[in-house]
Amino acid sequence: MTTFNILLAFHVLGVVWWIGGVAMVTATLLPIFNRLPAAERIERIKQLEGRFANQARVAVLVVGITGFWMYALLPGEVTHTWWIGLMMLVWVLFTMMLFVAEPLHLPAKLGLIHSPRKFLVVHAVLLGLALAAVFCGVIGSRGGF
Ligand code: HEM
Repeated sequence: MTTFNILLAFHVLGVVWWIGGVAMVTATLLPIFNRLPAAERIERIKQLEGRFANQARVAVLVVGITGFWMYALLPGEVTHTWWIGLMMLVWVLFTMMLFVAEPLHLPAKLGLIHSPRKFLVVHAVLLGLALAAVFCGVIGSRGGF
């Protein structure tokens, strides 16, 4: 068992917890909440955020630390690939959301949270990008591209 294998295992565990949570929120919870009266919908979203945001922050940190560590161990042919770039893009987007936009309450201030459709679409786009990073990462790390 090498350092790289252990890092990769933690990297994937972090991705599972974080992106699995985003999938559950996007594909199941938000569509259910969107059927509720406006005030109750916002209340439910805040409860959900209260429980999941810190879990996602820890997972994002684990994915970032292990990702950059593996990056330092790998040769340039692997690290200079577009699929690693895609992973980094997804990581930067979520990091900005979880560590900057949410603590500043930007989704509420911009009215995004009050528009059920827009809020769902933003989550769906982020989930799509994250799933693309997983799909391409698994193929790319086996030399598939
Ligand atoms: C700072 C951000 C990130 C960096 C630097 C990074 C870096 C890496 C590296 C170096 C590998 C190993 C590649 C290899 O074995 O050749 C890897 C694997 C992987 N990463 Fe990331 N990653 C990051 C974020 C993400 C994100 C956000 C996701 C998912 C949304 C992700 C999903 C994966 C997957 C699925 C694998 C392949 C696992 C396998 O099948 O071997 N990574 N990543």
